[in-house]
Amino acid sequence: MEATTSPHKTAFVAGGAGGLGKALAKLLAAQGAHVTIFGRTKGPLEEAVKEIERSRLSETQEIRFVVLDLSDSSQVETAFREHDRIPDMLFCAAGGNHAQNGFFVDITAEQVDACMKNNYYATAYPAKSALDIWIEEDKRNKWKASPRTHVRRIIIISSAAAFLGLPGSIAYTPAKAAVRALADTLRFEMLRYSSPASKYSVHISFPGDFISPGFYQEQYTKTHLTKSMQGLKGSIKDLEKKYPSSEKVASLVLDAFTILHINLEHVTFDIMNIILSL
Ligand SMILES: NC(=O)c1ccc[n+]([C@@H]2O[C@H](COP(=O)([O-])OP(=O)(O)OC[C@H]3O[C@@H](n4cnc5c(N)ncnc54)[C@H](OP(=O)(O)O)[C@@H]3O)[C@@H](O)[C@H]2O)c1
Repeated sequence: MEATTSPHKTAFVAGGAGGLGKALAKLLAAQGAHVTIFGRTKGPLEEAVKEIERSRLSETQEIRFVVLDLSDSSQVETAFREHDRIPDMLFCAAGGNHAQNGFFVDITAEQVDACMKNNYYATAYPAKSALDIWIEEDKRNKWKASPRTHVRRIIIISSAAAFLGLPGSIAYTPAKAAVRALADTLRFEMLRYSSPASKYSVHISFPGDFISPGFYQEQYTKTHLTKSMQGLKGSIKDLEKKYPSSEKVASLVLDAFTILHINLEHVTFDIMNIILSL
Protein backbone atom coordinates (compact mmCIF):
# COMPACT_ATOMS: atom_id res chain seq x y z
CA MET A 1 0.00 0.00 0.00
CA GLU A 2 1.28 3.44 -0.83
CA ALA A 3 1.03 5.90 2.06
CA THR A 4 -1.54 8.66 1.74
CA THR A 5 1.29 11.13 1.72
CA SER A 6 4.91 10.30 1.66
CA PRO A 7 7.99 12.47 1.77
CA HIS A 8 8.35 14.67 -1.33
CA LYS A 9 4.65 14.59 -2.23
CA THR A 10 3.03 17.97 -2.75
CA ALA A 11 -0.34 18.91 -1.30
CA PHE A 12 -2.33 22.01 -2.24
CA VAL A 13 -4.86 23.00 0.41
CA ALA A 14 -7.49 25.47 -0.79
CA GLY A 15 -8.81 27.29 2.29
CA GLY A 16 -5.67 26.22 4.17
CA ALA A 17 -5.72 29.07 6.70
CA GLY A 18 -9.17 28.09 7.97
CA GLY A 19 -10.00 25.65 10.74
CA LEU A 20 -10.20 22.38 8.82
CA GLY A 21 -7.86 23.42 6.00
CA LYS A 22 -5.07 24.35 8.41
CA ALA A 23 -5.57 21.17 10.45
CA LEU A 24 -5.32 19.10 7.26
CA ALA A 25 -2.22 21.03 6.17
CA LYS A 26 -0.53 20.36 9.52
CA LEU A 27 -1.24 16.63 9.31
CA LEU A 28 0.03 16.50 5.74
CA ALA A 29 3.21 18.33 6.76
CA ALA A 30 3.63 15.89 9.66
CA GLN A 31 3.52 13.07 7.07
CA GLY A 32 6.34 14.67 5.10
CA ALA A 33 4.52 16.52 2.34
CA HIS A 34 5.36 19.88 0.80
CA VAL A 35 2.27 22.00 1.42
CA THR A 36 0.92 25.14 -0.24
CA ILE A 37 -2.16 26.81 1.23
CA PHE A 38 -4.50 29.18 -0.58
CA GLY A 39 -6.84 31.88 0.73
CA ARG A 40 -7.84 35.51 0.34
CA THR A 41 -6.30 37.05 3.45
CA LYS A 42 -2.55 37.38 3.88
CA GLY A 43 -2.34 37.64 7.70
CA PRO A 44 -4.02 34.31 8.56
CA LEU A 45 -2.13 32.58 5.73
CA GLU A 46 1.22 33.80 7.11
CA GLU A 47 0.27 32.70 10.62
CA ALA A 48 -0.92 29.33 9.31
CA VAL A 49 2.36 28.76 7.44
CA LYS A 50 4.28 29.26 10.72
CA GLU A 51 2.06 26.67 12.45
CA ILE A 52 2.32 24.20 9.58
CA GLU A 53 6.12 24.59 9.52
CA ARG A 54 6.22 23.60 13.18
CA SER A 55 4.41 20.34 12.24
CA ARG A 56 6.68 19.31 9.38
CA LEU A 57 9.07 16.38 9.57
CA SER A 58 11.99 18.14 7.95
CA GLU A 59 13.09 21.68 7.12
CA THR A 60 13.50 20.58 3.51
CA GLN A 61 9.69 20.49 3.20
CA GLU A 62 8.43 23.66 1.55
CA ILE A 63 5.43 25.28 3.20
CA ARG A 64 4.02 28.19 1.21
CA PHE A 65 0.96 30.34 0.84
CA VAL A 66 -0.75 32.06 -2.07
CA VAL A 67 -3.19 34.95 -1.65
CA LEU A 68 -6.06 34.67 -4.12
CA ASP A 69 -9.79 34.44 -4.51
CA LEU A 70 -10.47 30.78 -5.23
CA SER A 71 -13.78 31.68 -6.85
CA ASP A 72 -11.92 33.57 -9.58
CA SER A 73 -10.95 31.00 -12.20
CA SER A 74 -8.19 33.10 -13.78
CA GLN A 75 -6.51 33.75 -10.42
CA VAL A 76 -6.60 30.03 -9.63
CA GLU A 77 -5.31 29.05 -13.06
CA THR A 78 -2.42 31.53 -12.84
CA ALA A 79 -1.47 30.54 -9.30
CA PHE A 80 -1.51 26.80 -10.03
CA ARG A 81 0.46 27.16 -13.26
CA GLU A 82 3.03 29.52 -11.73
CA HIS A 83 3.68 27.15 -8.85
CA ASP A 84 6.94 25.30 -9.40
CA ARG A 85 5.53 22.01 -8.14
CA ILE A 86 2.65 20.06 -9.64
CA PRO A 87 0.48 18.84 -6.75
CA ASP A 88 -0.08 15.16 -6.04
CA MET A 89 -3.11 16.00 -3.92
CA LEU A 90 -5.57 18.85 -3.90
CA PHE A 91 -7.67 19.41 -0.78
CA CYS A 92 -10.65 21.72 -1.34
CA ALA A 93 -11.48 23.04 2.13
CA ALA A 94 -12.54 26.61 1.39
CA GLY A 95 -16.08 27.66 2.10
CA GLY A 96 -18.49 28.43 4.89
CA ASN A 97 -21.53 30.67 5.18
CA HIS A 98 -21.16 32.93 8.19
CA ALA A 99 -21.96 35.99 6.05
CA GLN A 100 -24.88 34.39 4.21
CA ASN A 101 -27.09 32.91 6.94
CA GLY A 102 -30.78 33.78 6.98
CA PHE A 103 -34.10 32.93 5.41
CA PHE A 104 -34.47 33.30 1.64
CA VAL A 105 -36.63 36.41 1.91
CA ASP A 106 -34.17 38.04 4.30
CA ILE A 107 -30.91 37.51 2.41
CA THR A 108 -29.88 39.36 -0.71
CA ALA A 109 -29.15 38.01 -4.16
CA GLU A 110 -25.53 39.06 -3.56
CA GLN A 111 -25.37 36.76 -0.53
CA VAL A 112 -26.75 33.85 -2.57
CA ASP A 113 -24.09 34.59 -5.17
CA ALA A 114 -21.26 34.91 -2.61
CA CYS A 115 -22.14 31.62 -0.92
CA MET A 116 -22.12 29.77 -4.23
CA LYS A 117 -18.78 31.37 -5.11
CA ASN A 118 -17.06 30.59 -1.80
CA ASN A 119 -18.31 27.00 -1.66
CA TYR A 120 -19.00 25.73 -5.19
CA TYR A 121 -16.73 27.79 -7.45
CA ALA A 122 -13.93 27.88 -4.85
CA THR A 123 -14.00 24.06 -5.13
CA ALA A 124 -14.68 23.64 -8.85
CA TYR A 125 -11.98 26.01 -10.14
CA PRO A 126 -9.07 24.56 -8.15
CA ALA A 127 -10.22 21.05 -9.12
CA LYS A 128 -10.39 22.05 -12.78
CA SER A 129 -6.98 23.75 -12.82
CA ALA A 130 -5.30 20.82 -11.08
CA LEU A 131 -6.92 18.33 -13.43
CA ASP A 132 -6.01 20.36 -16.54
CA ILE A 133 -2.37 20.51 -15.43
CA TRP A 134 -2.31 16.79 -14.62
CA ILE A 135 -3.81 15.73 -17.94
CA GLU A 136 -1.42 17.97 -19.87
CA GLU A 137 1.51 16.34 -18.09
CA ASP A 138 0.14 12.86 -18.83
CA LYS A 139 -0.27 13.78 -22.51
CA ARG A 140 3.30 15.08 -22.66
CA ASN A 141 4.39 11.72 -21.23
CA LYS A 142 2.23 9.95 -23.86
CA TRP A 143 0.18 8.34 -21.05
CA LYS A 144 3.20 6.31 -19.96
CA ALA A 145 4.62 6.08 -16.45
CA SER A 146 7.56 8.45 -16.08
CA PRO A 147 9.37 7.07 -14.21
CA ARG A 148 6.48 5.69 -12.19
CA THR A 149 2.72 6.04 -12.11
CA HIS A 150 1.51 9.26 -10.51
CA VAL A 151 -1.26 8.98 -7.94
CA ARG A 152 -3.38 12.14 -8.29
CA ARG A 153 -6.16 12.87 -5.85
CA ILE A 154 -8.77 15.51 -5.22
CA ILE A 155 -10.28 15.56 -1.73
CA ILE A 156 -13.32 17.79 -1.40
CA ILE A 157 -14.93 19.04 1.80
CA SER A 158 -18.70 19.41 1.46
CA SER A 159 -21.03 19.29 4.48
CA ALA A 160 -23.85 17.26 6.00
CA ALA A 161 -25.87 20.27 4.79
CA ALA A 162 -25.58 18.81 1.27
CA PHE A 163 -28.28 16.29 2.27
CA LEU A 164 -30.56 18.57 4.28
CA GLY A 165 -33.25 21.13 3.81
CA LEU A 166 -32.05 23.40 6.58
CA PRO A 167 -34.14 26.58 6.96
CA GLY A 168 -31.97 29.65 7.47
CA SER A 169 -29.06 28.02 5.60
CA ILE A 170 -30.69 28.38 2.22
CA ALA A 171 -27.72 29.97 0.49
CA TYR A 172 -25.44 27.23 1.82
CA THR A 173 -27.31 23.94 1.36
CA PRO A 174 -27.62 24.25 -2.45
CA ALA A 175 -23.95 25.24 -2.72
CA LYS A 176 -22.85 22.17 -0.76
CA ALA A 177 -25.22 19.94 -2.77
CA ALA A 178 -23.61 21.33 -5.93
CA VAL A 179 -20.19 20.45 -4.53
CA ARG A 180 -21.42 16.92 -3.92
CA ALA A 181 -22.75 16.62 -7.49
CA LEU A 182 -19.43 17.90 -8.82
CA ALA A 183 -17.49 15.24 -6.90
CA ASP A 184 -19.87 12.43 -7.85
CA THR A 185 -19.69 13.32 -11.55
CA LEU A 186 -16.00 14.16 -11.66
CA ARG A 187 -15.17 10.82 -10.02
CA PHE A 188 -16.58 9.05 -13.08
CA GLU A 189 -15.10 11.45 -15.62
CA MET A 190 -11.65 11.02 -14.10
CA LEU A 191 -11.80 7.29 -14.82
CA ARG A 192 -11.32 8.26 -18.46
CA TYR A 193 -7.84 9.55 -17.66
CA SER A 194 -6.41 6.82 -15.45
CA SER A 195 -3.57 5.22 -17.38
CA PRO A 196 -0.05 3.94 -16.76
CA ALA A 197 0.89 7.63 -16.43
CA SER A 198 -1.51 8.41 -13.59
CA LYS A 199 -4.18 7.00 -11.36
CA TYR A 200 -6.91 9.47 -10.45
CA SER A 201 -9.42 9.52 -7.62
CA VAL A 202 -11.93 11.97 -6.18
CA HIS A 203 -12.96 11.84 -2.54
CA ILE A 204 -15.56 13.84 -0.67
CA SER A 205 -16.31 14.38 2.98
CA PHE A 206 -19.60 15.54 4.53
CA PRO A 207 -18.78 16.73 8.05
CA GLY A 208 -21.35 17.89 10.55
CA ASP A 209 -20.61 20.88 12.79
CA PHE A 210 -17.09 21.22 14.14
CA ILE A 211 -15.17 23.93 15.93
CA SER A 212 -13.33 26.38 13.66
CA PRO A 213 -13.02 30.14 13.10
CA GLY A 214 -15.90 29.89 10.63
CA PHE A 215 -18.03 27.96 13.16
CA TYR A 216 -17.56 30.69 15.79
CA GLN A 217 -18.55 33.40 13.31
CA GLU A 218 -21.63 31.46 12.24
CA GLN A 219 -23.01 31.38 15.77
CA TYR A 220 -23.64 35.13 15.51
CA THR A 221 -25.48 34.98 12.18
CA LYS A 222 -27.55 31.75 12.28
CA THR A 223 -31.27 32.12 12.79
CA HIS A 224 -32.75 30.89 16.05
CA LEU A 225 -34.65 28.20 14.10
CA THR A 226 -31.48 26.92 12.40
CA LYS A 227 -29.68 26.76 15.74
CA SER A 228 -32.58 24.90 17.36
CA MET A 229 -32.72 22.36 14.54
CA GLN A 230 -28.96 21.80 14.70
CA GLY A 231 -28.84 21.59 18.50
CA LEU A 232 -26.55 24.61 18.64
CA LYS A 233 -27.78 25.78 22.01
CA GLY A 234 -25.73 27.02 24.94
CA SER A 235 -22.62 29.07 25.38
CA ILE A 236 -19.56 28.83 23.15
CA LYS A 237 -17.91 26.83 25.96
CA ASP A 238 -20.82 24.33 25.86
CA LEU A 239 -20.49 24.03 22.09
CA GLU A 240 -16.73 23.47 22.35
CA LYS A 241 -17.44 20.50 24.63
CA LYS A 242 -20.13 19.12 22.34
CA TYR A 243 -18.57 19.41 18.88
CA PRO A 244 -15.29 17.99 17.54
CA SER A 245 -12.27 20.15 16.83
CA SER A 246 -11.01 20.88 13.32
CA GLU A 247 -8.01 18.68 14.15
CA LYS A 248 -10.26 15.72 14.98
CA VAL A 249 -12.24 16.11 11.74
CA ALA A 250 -9.02 16.49 9.74
CA SER A 251 -7.66 13.22 11.10
CA LEU A 252 -10.96 11.45 10.32
CA VAL A 253 -10.90 12.82 6.77
CA LEU A 254 -7.34 11.63 6.20
CA ASP A 255 -8.00 8.22 7.79
CA ALA A 256 -11.12 7.65 5.67
CA PHE A 257 -9.36 8.84 2.56
CA THR A 258 -6.49 6.39 3.15
CA ILE A 259 -8.84 3.42 3.67
CA LEU A 260 -11.02 4.43 0.73
CA HIS A 261 -8.00 4.83 -1.45
CA ILE A 262 -7.00 1.19 -0.94
CA ASN A 263 -10.49 0.04 -1.93
CA LEU A 264 -10.89 2.59 -4.69
CA GLU A 265 -7.84 1.34 -6.53
CA HIS A 266 -9.75 -1.87 -7.21
CA VAL A 267 -13.13 -0.21 -7.80
CA THR A 268 -11.52 2.24 -10.19
CA PHE A 269 -10.10 -0.45 -12.36
CA ASP A 270 -13.26 -2.57 -12.24
CA ILE A 271 -15.37 0.38 -13.38
CA MET A 272 -12.81 1.32 -16.01
CA ASN A 273 -12.93 -2.21 -17.40
CA ILE A 274 -16.73 -1.94 -17.67
CA ILE A 275 -16.48 1.44 -19.42
CA LEU A 276 -13.82 0.18 -21.79
CA SER A 277 -15.87 -2.90 -22.65
CA LEU A 278 -18.96 -0.82 -23.61
N1 LIG B 1 -17.16 24.30 10.72
C1 LIG B 1 -18.23 23.57 10.48
O1 LIG B 1 -19.07 23.36 11.36
C2 LIG B 1 -18.44 22.93 9.12
C3 LIG B 1 -19.37 21.90 9.01
C4 LIG B 1 -19.53 21.26 7.78
C5 LIG B 1 -18.79 21.65 6.69
N2 LIG B 1 -17.88 22.67 6.82
C6 LIG B 1 -17.12 23.02 5.63
O2 LIG B 1 -15.75 22.69 5.87
C7 LIG B 1 -14.89 23.61 5.18
C8 LIG B 1 -13.95 24.25 6.17
O3 LIG B 1 -14.74 24.88 7.15
P1 LIG B 1 -14.10 25.68 8.38
O4 LIG B 1 -15.17 25.76 9.41
O5 LIG B 1 -12.76 25.16 8.71
O6 LIG B 1 -14.01 27.12 7.70
P2 LIG B 1 -13.23 28.44 8.10
O7 LIG B 1 -12.55 28.30 9.40
O8 LIG B 1 -14.20 29.55 7.91
O9 LIG B 1 -12.15 28.49 6.93
C9 LIG B 1 -12.55 28.57 5.60
C10 LIG B 1 -11.40 29.14 4.82
O10 LIG B 1 -11.82 29.25 3.44
C11 LIG B 1 -11.27 30.45 2.92
N3 LIG B 1 -12.11 30.92 1.84
C12 LIG B 1 -13.46 31.06 1.83
N4 LIG B 1 -13.87 31.54 0.65
C13 LIG B 1 -12.74 31.70 -0.11
C14 LIG B 1 -12.50 32.17 -1.42
N5 LIG B 1 -13.49 32.60 -2.20
N6 LIG B 1 -11.22 32.21 -1.85
C15 LIG B 1 -10.21 31.81 -1.06
N7 LIG B 1 -10.37 31.34 0.19
C16 LIG B 1 -11.63 31.31 0.65
C17 LIG B 1 -11.25 31.41 4.11
O11 LIG B 1 -10.18 32.34 4.00
P3 LIG B 1 -10.39 33.84 3.54
O12 LIG B 1 -11.75 34.27 4.04
O13 LIG B 1 -9.25 34.59 4.14
O14 LIG B 1 -10.30 33.79 2.08
C18 LIG B 1 -10.98 30.50 5.31
O15 LIG B 1 -9.62 30.47 5.64
C19 LIG B 1 -15.84 24.59 4.47
O16 LIG B 1 -16.06 24.14 3.16
C20 LIG B 1 -17.12 24.49 5.29
O17 LIG B 1 -18.25 24.83 4.51
C21 LIG B 1 -17.69 23.31 8.00
